Amino acid sequence: MEKKVKPAGKPAGKPAGKPAGKPAGKPAGKQKGGRMKSDWDIDYQKYKSIFAGERFPLAFVDLDRFDKNIDYVAVTQAKTFKTIRVASKSIRCLSLIKRIFEKGGPAYKGILAFTMEEAGFLFDNGFDDILVAYPSVQQSDVSLFVEKTGQGADICLMADSAQHLEILSRSGRKAGIRLKVCLDMDMSYRPLGSSMHIGVRRSPLHTKGQVLALVKKAKQLPGITLCGMMGYEAQIASVNDNFPSKCVKNTILRMFKKASIKELTKRRGEIVKAVADEGIQLEFVNGGGSGSLVSTGKDDSVTEVTAGSAFFAPGLFRYFSEVEFVPSAFFGLQVTRIPQKAMITCQGGGYVASGEVNQNRLPWPVMPQGLAFIPMECAGEVQTPLMLPKACPSIGLSDPVFFQHAKAGELCERFNQLYLLKDKKIKEKVPTYRGQGNAFL
Ligand SMILES: Cc1ncc(COP(=O)(O)O)c(C=O)c1O
Repeated sequence: MEKKVKPAGKPAGKPAGKPAGKPAGKPAGKQKGGRMKSDWDIDYQKYKSIFAGERFPLAFVDLDRFDKNIDYVAVTQAKTFKTIRVASKSIRCLSLIKRIFEKGGPAYKGILAFTMEEAGFLFDNGFDDILVAYPSVQQSDVSLFVEKTGQGADICLMADSAQHLEILSRSGRKAGIRLKVCLDMDMSYRPLGSSMHIGVRRSPLHTKGQVLALVKKAKQLPGITLCGMMGYEAQIASVNDNFPSKCVKNTILRMFKKASIKELTKRRGEIVKAVADEGIQLEFVNGGGSGSLVSTGKDDSVTEVTAGSAFFAPGLFRYFSEVEFVPSAFFGLQVTRIPQKAMITCQGGGYVASGEVNQNRLPWPVMPQGLAFIPMECAGEVQTPLMLPKACPSIGLSDPVFFQHAKAGELCERFNQLYLLKDKKIKEKVPTYRGQGNAFL
């Protein structure tokens, strides 16, 4: 396996291996009771004092950490000459998306949006070069696409079927414009043919033949222009392969990833070449995600990589062998009850992430370190009880507990605003998409 690209700054200590909270942080010195004090415990005191007197629950982004991730992601592509497209679904806050482009400079180019309505909202707020990564041909989305394109927006919509293309073509032709489309290539791994599919279920376009048939169709249709290709290898980009104390599991995962990368790199390259041979001049070939920045960066057929979760580095983006991000986004709950000794109950907290039903979708209680859920209750709608580790920093009523969401952007669907911290102080409060009245999905 490749060596990990060194992050610009180390995380403040690894959080609990499981959301249920095994202490795994870097020890920073002995504390009363013989337990080692971790970096997370030190950070707990820091954030506790920063937010003293604030109303909980709250969510915050530590910009010193966030900025390290901006630099780090750029470094992963420094020698590949690929630009980085920002996956806005994993941020969902205009102020932070803007910060990535301002701080990151020319390494960053374009946004990977998650709906057409979001693309319209981004364009209205000064952003452009927007690739909507998931298809939708409902009437309201197509009308908005036509409207924004007519206003000069550079928006491109994902498609993977003749039906998608035909609907867009009709609307583009009627409006007398050309709508930009991108074709989605399925990058799943099928070592045993179609009977085994390892990856996400999205585009039906898996083989070169399937893609070329649609490219030929796109060439003939008026009202649309085929501008890009996208091949997102979810089975590499969002699968952790560096779990603490899981040597055998990690080895197997890395072997599987290596085989999948070899297969998909060859296939993606052949498809992109075949599309060029059809006389199509693509503006971009997009690939990858935060967890595959290194491997996708090495693929010559790709012109740009995507990154989103890298910036918040939530619970599910902790254990990658090739990349390492600094956790930067957290939420805090207040302790409202002490049901018994060595136990606390927080108000709210049931912010469970989407996707497969699994323990790792729960919020990750990271500060103080070593807190554990009670399995019968886990993270609750109105209350979240937690067991304290031995010699935990003292926690009483109204004290905070800090968590990470398992996924990145979903945090912002729970909060109207984010506190932004800089140099250990509250710099400002900024609205999330939700705070601006936008629940796009
Ligand atoms: C099409 C596509 N590209 C890239 C990504 C990677 O995003 P992130 O970096 O937030 O994991 C995703 C995530 O789901 C995706 O759907």
